[in-house]
Amino acid sequence: MRTIPLGKSGLIVPAIAVGCMRMGGLSKQDAERFVQTAMEEGAVFFDHADIYGGGSCEEVFSEAVHMSASVREKIILQSKCGIRPGVAFDFSKEYILASVDGILKRLNTEYLDVLLLHRPDALVEPEEVAEAFDTLQSGGKVRHFGVSNQNPMQIQLLQKYIKQPVAANQLQLSITNATMITQGTHVNMLDAAAVNRDGSVLDFCRLNDITIQPWSPFQFGFFEGVFLGSEKFPALNAKIDELAWKYGVSNTTIAMAWLLRHPANMQPVTGTMNIQRLKDCVKATEINLSREEWYAIYLAAGHTLP
Ligand SMILES: NC(=O)c1ccc[n+]([C@@H]2O[C@H](COP(=O)([O-])OP(=O)(O)OC[C@H]3O[C@@H](n4cnc5c(N)ncnc54)[C@H](OP(=O)(O)O)[C@@H]3O)[C@@H](O)[C@H]2O)c1
Repeated sequence: MRTIPLGKSGLIVPAIAVGCMRMGGLSKQDAERFVQTAMEEGAVFFDHADIYGGGSCEEVFSEAVHMSASVREKIILQSKCGIRPGVAFDFSKEYILASVDGILKRLNTEYLDVLLLHRPDALVEPEEVAEAFDTLQSGGKVRHFGVSNQNPMQIQLLQKYIKQPVAANQLQLSITNATMITQGTHVNMLDAAAVNRDGSVLDFCRLNDITIQPWSPFQFGFFEGVFLGSEKFPALNAKIDELAWKYGVSNTTIAMAWLLRHPANMQPVTGTMNIQRLKDCVKATEINLSREEWYAIYLAAGHTLP
């Protein structure tokens, strides 16, 4: 598995992260097989959140991986907090600290490699976040920190107060949900593609060595479905299938290779619980699409160029 640096954290991580949001429904046996396969493939970076399956995804994972000191050394664990069921969002010191204690208990580990703040809290007080991060780091509970779904100003505000560099920003990004890329090709134009919805987060993260972790790499809309094989995207699927045939790989591999081809050195987060599809995602780290192929997929998805 190809590796990349995770922001300025000093961590070297697999180029593909394994998302565990859909793990809660797996049987013990299926979860064990899935986690085992991931580790055999070198996909040892696992992405969690306290809210996935109401906490059950973290529990299913820790049982499936047979957590022990020797297993813990071989894996990199990331989880998220800040979405507070029944309230909305909560980045208060008290809530962050309590959330991490819950995460560590469910994952059956003493520390997280990375903690992300899940979704922006409108009432964030960055001084409090800074205190929480310091407490977690000095107590050995979390080694590195990042955010998710945040724009450049939000990150800068946080970074003004926290000592630790923001290592990662997890954002929705797929071939069909690519506004952070499309706006950059339509600067100063009057069409809809020119609308800057995220404060140029892609360029900001590249400038500041923050690793973008694309989530839902195969979904269109907001969890509306998978674009691969969807009759809503005939031209896109025809182009992806053509390249899959050319490279002798699956359509899943080509779609993942499209994200990996971007020079921002992103770390896509897979969501599949299917062993073959996970292998197909990992395979994408061996494919280097040409500039022509990358743009052909981009245009086939319906994006335009001036
Ligand atoms: N930070 C955030 O706000 C946020 C939000 C959402 C998700 N996430 C993270 O991102 C990860 C991925 O999200 P996601 O699960 O929505 O991503 P995804 O990989 O785009 O979607 C996976 C889902 O699509 C299905 N699928 C069907 N055909 C597929 C194909 N050809 N290739 C791949 N998947 C196919 C999978 O089913 P099978 O299992 O049968 O393959 C699975 O149910 C999550 O696990 C989580 O860690 C983060």
